Amino acid sequence: MATLLQSQGAQHAAILGVGSYRPARVVPNSEVVDAIDSSDEWIQQRSGIKTRRWAGPEESVQMMAVAAARKALDRAGIDPRQIDTVVVATVSHMLQTPAVATAIAHELGTDQAAAFDISAACAGFCHGVSMAADFVRAGSAGHVLVIGVERLTDILDLHDRGTAFIFADGAGAAVVGPSDTPGIGPVVWGSDGEQFDLIRQREDWRDVVASGDPVMPHLVMQGNPVFRWASFAMAKIGQQALDRAGVSIDELDVFVPHQANMRIIDAMARSMKLPPRVKIARDIAEMGNTSAASIPLALDRMIDEGEARSGDTALLVAFGAGLAYAAQVVTVP
Ligand code: COA
Repeated sequence: MATLLQSQGAQHAAILGVGSYRPARVVPNSEVVDAIDSSDEWIQQRSGIKTRRWAGPEESVQMMAVAAARKALDRAGIDPRQIDTVVVATVSHMLQTPAVATAIAHELGTDQAAAFDISAACAGFCHGVSMAADFVRAGSAGHVLVIGVERLTDILDLHDRGTAFIFADGAGAAVVGPSDTPGIGPVVWGSDGEQFDLIRQREDWRDVVASGDPVMPHLVMQGNPVFRWASFAMAKIGQQALDRAGVSIDELDVFVPHQANMRIIDAMARSMKLPPRVKIARDIAEMGNTSAASIPLALDRMIDEGEARSGDTALLVAFGAGLAYAAQVVTVP
């Protein structure tokens, strides 16, 4: 039996740069309330959302992803040809195959990087960051581009009271590469498939075709159980990620939970007893829930606005359909 040679990676991995793209069109609550018999006051009170961004015809999944990636590459000082792996977390690329990652890798000008999509809904970006860190350390990749991108308005039923005001569009990206010091802590991830139906595409594509009345199988959600699950279970996952990284609450500077609902963000912060000193991402108010894009969008905004500074210790906690979740501590680039 032959002894197989093994690849050798970098000792440590870190996020080297972050970027994001916000669609141009700002949609206030007043534009969505009539179709769902709601009000600006109800939406703000229950979710904290004031506006969201909806992508225009030119703002495709690929276009938004490339724009976010270019900013992340620029910030990292990395040429696209140095990227040898592109991981795209999305549930709203409208082709079953091929993966949008290959088109993104090509448009960016990578040198035929390995490129594939992952499906972990709102938890997708943190799954991608964990994989990227492992690739870099194992030697499977030198530099990895992780992108979270969604154009959820394509699968949104604007008459559905439970989802129409929540979900939105956008993209965020991070370049992960070798580092002298550990910049990405161990991931805490998992799933609860018993709750598979709580957030899902309404029907299987084959049932849509068989119905003879092809209507887009929209995203549907049982908001209440999701709310309870996220508010209670996800704070524990965040704490586990801190523990596994050996980081105490006192050492934490920034908290970037998935931007699902302001009340969930507040409940997690209370439950984890985060001191007022810790800066908390609250991009949900302006962006709604952009699923896989929400964490890099929120982190990039905090960096742009000086709330998160280079070297800060940040906790990322992502959760969503599946139900799937992933959390890790990272150093802000
Ligand atoms: N506008 C106005 N009223 C609405 C409404 C809307 N869009 N949707 C529901 N209501 C009404 C209901 O009819 C109900 O009225 P009633 O008390 O007279 O029967 C009341 O509001 C409460 O309904 P409920 O469905 O229990 O609302 P809720 O308090 O659970 O809030 C969500 C709804 C969606 C805001 C909340 O469940 C939520 O945020 N869930 C988590 C969503 C999430 O984060 N998902 C992403 C995870 S990745």
